[in-house]
Amino acid sequence: MNIVYRIWNSSLGKKYLMALTGAAMFAFLIGHLVGNLQVFGPPELINEYAHFLKSKPALIWGARLGLLACVGLHIFAAVTLAQLNAAARPQAYAKPGAYAASPASQYMLPTGIVILAFIVYHLAHFTAMLPGVNGLGDFSKLTTTLHGETVPDVYAMMVLGLQVTWVFLFYLIAQALLFMHLSHGLAAMFQSLGFRDHVWWPRIQCFAKGVSLALFLGYSLIAVAIYTRFIGTDYVDRKKYDLKAANAQPVPALVAAQGKEAK
Ligand code: HEM
Repeated sequence: MNIVYRIWNSSLGKKYLMALTGAAMFAFLIGHLVGNLQVFGPPELINEYAHFLKSKPALIWGARLGLLACVGLHIFAAVTLAQLNAAARPQAYAKPGAYAASPASQYMLPTGIVILAFIVYHLAHFTAMLPGVNGLGDFSKLTTTLHGETVPDVYAMMVLGLQVTWVFLFYLIAQALLFMHLSHGLAAMFQSLGFRDHVWWPRIQCFAKGVSLALFLGYSLIAVAIYTRFIGTDYVDRKKYDLKAANAQPVPALVAAQGKEAK
């Protein structure tokens, strides 16, 4: 107990905590990207996958609670470490930024805050499907049939959701900041776990930048392919009318889109 208490209260312990929670979230990001890339296949592919996940409540709720704990602990460790650092150096450096390793490392806090805001928005957008946040209508009304069963149409929701300009731009900005945050955070994670020496450090930095870039390109590819109407357009054109019919109030963005099509 004493050792857990000492680790929890030491700055080294908090660095471990940041590294381990960061690693768990990083693993989620890879899995989530692989799952989302199925949007390049036929609509049934990702709908089947989403339906499979939703049919395993223990798995999905276990992962959700685990992720929530990771986000909370990661933020707690970041804030308390920042406070410890500030207390250890009450006077700022004479030349601001002179000792920081990279721009990414200087902006960990602001990039982290925007990513957190993105996650809150993203959960409201696609998980809770709150009608007020997507600029279109009630996504929970989008359904399809799989093996004779009515299930949520996740494919239509993703395509319609990312066709909205401001939503698309917000996703793109958040992913660029995620790239910045990860390219420093991943390298720092290895450093906290004791893997820093003159041979390994350049390789670790290269790995961190490469993997972060791959994640950025993967997530952005999905958003760009949808926004540029490279995928999904024929399918969701039909769905837009279903969504409109399901909405009690006409939705301005949809009405405008339909008006354009009618001309
Ligand atoms: C183009 C980019 C992305 C797309 C298209 C996308 C798509 C989705 C979809 C469709 C869901 C809902 C799954 C469902 O309930 O059926 C979801 C959930 C989620 N996404 Fe994303 N996502 C993207 C990027 C991200 C990023 C960058 C993060 C993290 C920074 C993230 C974190 C999450 C989380 C935490 C959930 C909730 C999982 C759950 O509770 O089931 N997503 N995403």
